Amino acid sequence: MINIIKEMVGGRVLCFFFLFLVVGVVHASEDNLQPYRTGFHFQPLKNWINGPMYFKGVYHLFYQYNPYGPLWGNISWGHSISHDLVNWFLLEPALTPTEPYDITGCLSGSTTILRGSKPIILYTGQDVNKSQLQNLAFPKNLSDPLLKDWIKWSGNPILAPVNDINPSQFRDPSTAWMGPDGKWRIVIGSEIKGQGTALLYYSKDGYNWTRSDNPLHFSSETGMWECPDFYPVSNVGKNGIDASFQGNNTMHVLKVSYNSHEYYVIGTYDPKTDLFLAVTHDFRVSNTQFQYDYGRFYASKSFYDSAKQRRVLWGWVNEGDSQSDAIKKGWSGLQSFPRSIWLSDTRKQLVQWPVEEIKKLRGKEVNMENRELKGGSVLEVPGITASQADIEVLFSLTNLSDAELIDSDMFDPQLLCARKNASLSGSFGPFGLLVLASKNLTEQTAVFFRVFKGPNKFQVLMCSDQSRSSIAEEVDKSIYGAFLDLDPLNEKISLRSLVDHSIVESFGGEGLACITARVYPKLAIHEHAKLYVFNKGTKSVTISSLNAWTMNKAQIAPMGQDTIAF
Ligand SMILES: *[C@@H]1O[C@H](CO)[C@@H](O)[C@H](O)[C@H]1NC(C)=O
Ligand SMILES: *[C@@H]1O[C@H](CO)[C@@H](O)[C@H](O)[C@H]1NC(C)=O
Ligand SMILES: *[C@@H]1O[C@H](CO)[C@@H](O)[C@H](O)[C@H]1NC(C)=O
Ligand SMILES: *[C@@H]1O[C@H](CO)[C@@H](O)[C@H](O)[C@H]1NC(C)=O
Ligand SMILES: *[C@@H]1O[C@H](CO)[C@@H](O)[C@H](O)[C@H]1NC(C)=O
Ligand SMILES: *[C@@H]1O[C@H](CO)[C@@H](O)[C@H](O)[C@H]1NC(C)=O
Ligand SMILES: *[C@@H]1O[C@H](CO)[C@@H](O)[C@H](O)[C@H]1NC(C)=O
Ligand SMILES: *[C@@H]1O[C@H](CO)[C@@H](O)[C@H](O)[C@H]1NC(C)=O
Repeated sequence: MINIIKEMVGGRVLCFFFLFLVVGVVHASEDNLQPYRTGFHFQPLKNWINGPMYFKGVYHLFYQYNPYGPLWGNISWGHSISHDLVNWFLLEPALTPTEPYDITGCLSGSTTILRGSKPIILYTGQDVNKSQLQNLAFPKNLSDPLLKDWIKWSGNPILAPVNDINPSQFRDPSTAWMGPDGKWRIVIGSEIKGQGTALLYYSKDGYNWTRSDNPLHFSSETGMWECPDFYPVSNVGKNGIDASFQGNNTMHVLKVSYNSHEYYVIGTYDPKTDLFLAVTHDFRVSNTQFQYDYGRFYASKSFYDSAKQRRVLWGWVNEGDSQSDAIKKGWSGLQSFPRSIWLSDTRKQLVQWPVEEIKKLRGKEVNMENRELKGGSVLEVPGITASQADIEVLFSLTNLSDAELIDSDMFDPQLLCARKNASLSGSFGPFGLLVLASKNLTEQTAVFFRVFKGPNKFQVLMCSDQSRSSIAEEVDKSIYGAFLDLDPLNEKISLRSLVDHSIVESFGGEGLACITARVYPKLAIHEHAKLYVFNKGTKSVTISSLNAWTMNKAQIAPMGQDTIAF
């Protein structure tokens, strides 16, 4: 099950995400009972993410959270802080449902740092009638570096669903950006006249907001948009840009959430007219491209990290086991490892890569170089803790004249991965990694490539195949896929997988496509998990290099007396 409860509202299906509580912190001795708890993916999170931010030397992560029980309810803003995006201290929730305008939930929203270094939270509250209202909160004590306490503004709600806005389809205010007229702007997710819409609002002060006559963007091809994110990306490098940046050499990204996926378009934005024009493509329900992640990843948010001049993206990765499993575990939901995000050299798509701080956690390393992997081979990569690992592998191919033909460039990559799963031999591929595999390979999660000759060019397919990930039957065993925009004759094909007990986060083509999977092995747990590199195609491929590291556990703990020095 994917934690979605569907409610009929005015004849439309509305999805709410039902979450579970992480009860306390699991101690080392409980590890054996908790084979799916992660070592370096942030955990006490449920549900979709709120607005992360960097403020005065501290990263703040806010997330949807139920502080009182293992089922959805009392939806609050969990709050954790970090100096490095790796190790975290858990604080008390920043916002809990206390007021008529948020009494049935403090739903998603964002943070913005206003002029004079004043952070605010804009969030959606839900009242007793499930009407969604936008609200504002600010820190109680700006001198407190942890920003522990937040105060809801006495003037809340700042925006109510009026006129053509359906009260149950009005949520998730974005981070605000400032235009050349000195006014702040935000977008809010909605559905107007059956069309997914990013409503646009203006404010001089961050408190008093008025709606623009025109939305920033909408699509007649999709329904409700959730968690809109709107930000500039540089045309000339990987550095991130603040949302309010005004200057040349940028494009803009609009990301919205629908259909359980994160879709983005790249376009041009004129802050004088607030016209956003999609350049390469636009939002469609049938998009098989232009997703942040082609696996399990939703309701993400990005923020500009001024300390390292990068844009950092987080997504919520929900569970693929059952509700009763979640109750047994006592927790549900993870965050992706934070990723840097930037515009590719072709400027046609986004690229993502785990933030560099991940290297802090790398322990024992093993590697391989220039190794031919003959058709039909499976090679164990011994020597690391394969249940908690960071793996980078680079494949090179020569002479693709025998690549299989595909008759169209228009295949749905996910369908193609399902039809040609890891068990089916081809000529070039499947080759890649078998992670969280049991000794006899009964359990395995295959992350692999196939190369085809299409009508116009070679096509590189990347797949993450969970169909054999567990001998348990009642868990999700999806097969995910994406095409990589690279030339396999002249470029190496890279794969990076972050393996963390029950999550496999994979980056193909140096971040051109990301696929996140949740898996629940029964045999391949703890020290029984193994790592293999394989080639089930008939043609040889070369492993140019393979580096794999045992990952140490991140410190994710409540803030205590001994951490007062933070
Ligand atoms: C919400 O919190 C209250 C305590 O404040 C608790 O009694 C109630 O069971 C909680 N509801 C859920 C669904 O967790
Ligand atoms: C909720 O709906 C009821 C019935 O329509 C109405 O009387 C009440 O005022 C509403 N409450 C709020 C907070 O809007
Ligand atoms: C605000 O935070 C600072 C730094 O932690 C602290 O010294 C000060 O006492 C706090 N002020 C109040 C009113 O709590
Ligand atoms: C809010 O902004 C609108 C439009 O700019 C203005 O007409 C109104 O007076 C403002 N209200 C307050 C309370 O500042
Ligand atoms: C952007 O480029 C134009 C034309 O080259 C120039 O006139 C303008 O000053 C530039 N704007 C900024 C903010 O750099
Ligand atoms: C490429 O492979 C094909 C088929 O195996 C072979 O006929 C051809 O000679 C090879 N070309 C080169 C340049 O090696
Ligand atoms: C994988 O592909 C093989 C060969 O086409 C097929 O027999 C098998 O059912 C597939 N497995 C899954 C889980 O789809
Ligand atoms: C693989 O190992 C498991 C556990 O030891 C066993 O139950 C299963 O039968 C084995 N499968 C094969 C094909 O040997």
